Amino acid sequence: MDAQEVAPLPRVISGMRPTGALHIGHYHGALVNWLRLQDTHDCFFFVADLHALTTPQAGPLEPHVYDMVVDWLAAGVDPERTTLFIQSRLPEHAEAFTLLAMDTPLAWLERVPGWRERAADDAGARNYGFLGYPLLQAADILIHKGGLVPVGEDQQAHLEFTREVARRFNHRHGRVFPEPQALLSQAARVPGLDGAKMSKSLGNAIGMRETPERTAELVRAMPTDPQRVRRTDAGDPARCPVWPLHEIHTDAATREALAAGCRTAGIGCLDCKQPLIEAIQRLQAPWRERGAELAADPKKVHWILELGVERARAVARKTLKEMRAAMGLSY
Ligand code: TRP
Ligand code: SF4
Repeated sequence: MDAQEVAPLPRVISGMRPTGALHIGHYHGALVNWLRLQDTHDCFFFVADLHALTTPQAGPLEPHVYDMVVDWLAAGVDPERTTLFIQSRLPEHAEAFTLLAMDTPLAWLERVPGWRERAADDAGARNYGFLGYPLLQAADILIHKGGLVPVGEDQQAHLEFTREVARRFNHRHGRVFPEPQALLSQAARVPGLDGAKMSKSLGNAIGMRETPERTAELVRAMPTDPQRVRRTDAGDPARCPVWPLHEIHTDAATREALAAGCRTAGIGCLDCKQPLIEAIQRLQAPWRERGAELAADPKKVHWILELGVERARAVARKTLKEMRAAMGLSY
């Protein structure tokens, strides 16, 4: 390498299953990282619709796919700089999955945490696709030669599995893949309205594009320190499910004043919640505005995804060719 040349930055790749409109937990947990990475790296972000099909779905995926991508764009994911696409539109993912399957011991899949438990008590998860979920994820990453994978802690085992799959392929057939690194999201786990992890299925989420009125209503209804029964009782932020949301959204000076007010019963809980409500509303305002523009122009979102599919296809095709050649399938 001469002095001018620098090693290229690894490609970033990450996917989300299409769960529909996103909530502020997705924003702080994943999108914030995506936004940061797109400034420096070549990023591929995709809708993992095949992964969604590994468990039974209540209705069609299509609206969920588009609602989710609108939220990515509303948050500021920039389609000029990032490649956004839909997994199932690239059959290369499925082909890579098939090829990688030939070298993957069943035992590797069976020991991925969670699989056995899930299969034991959920008949919908007792299928080959669900067992193969981590291998499809490995195929997603490797087919694009992803080097850096921003994921939540819950995905660490899948990343470790992906690295094993890459190592084995490289060892058996010749070096084709980089070994991808997980980039764990730094964001604190975002608690939901009831203090449990924010999740749409638990019904404790604040939507990214929620109206200001509804957002206020949801936060006002949140339980607080259970020992603060009356307005005159002193409270403790450490016991309060509202507090972690303050830690994410409110500045330190405001927080200090609120904590003091709580401990001395100087303020009521609604007084404490008000600056939080306003901070969340300020965050949501541009998302709602951009989201409304995009929702009014569905063709635009389709085009963004079309372009992304074509860009990603070029990369995937090239890798697949190398895989086939390495496996002796280039006749
Ligand atoms: N399993 C991931 C999740 O549930 C989604 C996913 C599928 C993914 N393929 C991926 C994430 C590849 C990162 C890279 O969140
Ligand atoms: Fe929670 Fe704030 Fe009420 Fe204290 S004042 S209990 S921190 S909502």
